[in-house]
Amino acid sequence: MKLLHIDSSITGAGSVSRALSAGIVAAQRLRHPGLEVTYRDLAAEPVGHLSGAHLAAAQGASPELPALLRDLASGQAALEEFLAADIVVVGAPMYNFAIPSQLKAWIDRLAVAGKTFRYTADGPMGLAGGKTVIVASSRGGFYGPETPIAFLDHQESYLRGVFGFFGITDVTFIRAEGVAIGPEQRAKAMDAANGEIAKLAA
Ligand SMILES: Cc1cc2nc3c(=O)[nH]c(=O)nc-3n(C[C@H](O)[C@H](O)[C@H](O)COP(=O)(O)O)c2cc1C
Repeated sequence: MKLLHIDSSITGAGSVSRALSAGIVAAQRLRHPGLEVTYRDLAAEPVGHLSGAHLAAAQGASPELPALLRDLASGQAALEEFLAADIVVVGAPMYNFAIPSQLKAWIDRLAVAGKTFRYTADGPMGLAGGKTVIVASSRGGFYGPETPIAFLDHQESYLRGVFGFFGITDVTFIRAEGVAIGPEQRAKAMDAANGEIAKLAA
């Protein structure tokens, strides 16, 4: 069984989503002995943003710049890792109401027609179903449906939407919210999230 572990936080050692994603992976290792884990740190080694040159290469133009060739190969590797994984653990902080741009750039390499989705006469069809996705979500504030700023959540709602578009229905969010309010709320949010992670190992 294969697990792909993605981190995207830019906040380094104090990162909440990195602590949670590491805990989720440890829980999955307990649950699935012999689990094969691949790790990709999108902050340390970002995949490049899509450009016209990438699209032209995807449509058959021959890329000549070595930097573009390297970037195309890295995007292809990211897609293959994702397709090969049975479980995908994604460290996904909320930055400016959405996901980090590094994480978006990675998703842009997964959204490839014929690989993760295709359009049919009946509408889009996901091609990457059968995986489990577990998202380590961290947020400075609160964005639950009962809050006045729920409409600003373009982080979890986007991830649920895009993985759903790829055909993945088994998507779980382990969430630490309100972590910017103060140390007490941060500790409380981490305890609650760690409690959810412990249940994953059971
Ligand atoms: C660049 C940046 C933008 C942020 N934007 C938001 C935001 O829009 N809403 C929010 O609730 N918290 C925001 N925060 C707070 C983070 O969501 C919070 O600190 C969380 O722990 C970040 O995850 P990390 O610790 O894994 O980096 C932001 C933090 C940073 C560094």
